[in-house]
Amino acid sequence: MVKPYVFITRKLPEELVQPLRNIAAVEMWDQEEEPVPYELLVEKTKKAAALLTMLSDKMDENIMKEAPHLKVIANLAVGYDNIDIGAATSRGIVVCNTPDVLSDTTADLTFGLLMATARRLTEAAEYVKKGEWQGWSPYLLAGRDIHHKAIGIIGMGNIGRALAKRATGFEMEILYHNRSRQLEAEKELGATYCSFDELITRSDYIVCLTPLTNETKHLFNAEAFKKMKKSAIFINASRGAVVDEDALLQALKEGEIAAAGLDVFTKEPIDQHHPLLGLSNVVALPHIGSASIETRTAMIQLCIDNIQLMLESHKPKTVVNKDVLAQYCSS
Ligand code: GLV
Ligand code: GLV
Repeated sequence: MVKPYVFITRKLPEELVQPLRNIAAVEMWDQEEEPVPYELLVEKTKKAAALLTMLSDKMDENIMKEAPHLKVIANLAVGYDNIDIGAATSRGIVVCNTPDVLSDTTADLTFGLLMATARRLTEAAEYVKKGEWQGWSPYLLAGRDIHHKAIGIIGMGNIGRALAKRATGFEMEILYHNRSRQLEAEKELGATYCSFDELITRSDYIVCLTPLTNETKHLFNAEAFKKMKKSAIFINASRGAVVDEDALLQALKEGEIAAAGLDVFTKEPIDQHHPLLGLSNVVALPHIGSASIETRTAMIQLCIDNIQLMLESHKPKTVVNKDVLAQYCSS
């Protein structure tokens, strides 16, 4: 029997991929940092039964329409805005993501970014290394307090709740906004549900964790930044396009908000000369929310498991478009 063909769009550790080779002909793009060119991905997809994709791969209808064998796309991320889910579903292609395994790690990074932005950690560290530290002074690199302030979390999923848990240790007031109320988080973490407007008006820290959808694109626009406190600090660890970056730039320049900590950008990698990076009150990171060795390994493992389960006609562990499953899986 001819083994099904699997294409992996980035170089991953061979020891994690190896088990898949027993049941499939696996090919990997040979670069760790360079994404696979779109045209090549189109070619590879034509013969693939399964793809293991990165969040930087744009999986559009054009790729899927010439993929007669494709059963599953396993995306190495919890977010799947890079994949046209409607197109996949209508063609019977199962889409898998990597929720849960990355929640704590991403919450750690998000709280770290909040702390770095509030207490100006990266700016202060550069100050010392550049030899600019001439003496002590009362307000030298003074930031903003974190403890006992109000944190407003937009998008109270697993990562949001893990973040709220961390905020309880800092005795913060926890506000949240979500499509649905999270009664357990309210009970266990003392989180208070707010409308979007109330949240952005009341919070000292506004943390964006909501997925990118048609509804959340540019949710943070000029109007939203104007409603925030002048002392507010904006943190984004979900997707860049949830924010109108021109409006954010304007708000930071005009002093409508105090600072921003950004792990994600509309265009990634962001250009080194992007005006946001020229501001001293912006802390920028290269989309590393889930980037611990332990968690990235767990995410890769989950993708491999999901592909293997699909190819053996079992139900994958974490499916985005569950409706599609019935036609494939016996268990
Ligand atoms: C990272 O941004 C993810 O969606 O996992
Ligand atoms: C907004 O935060 C939403 O999840 O609907």
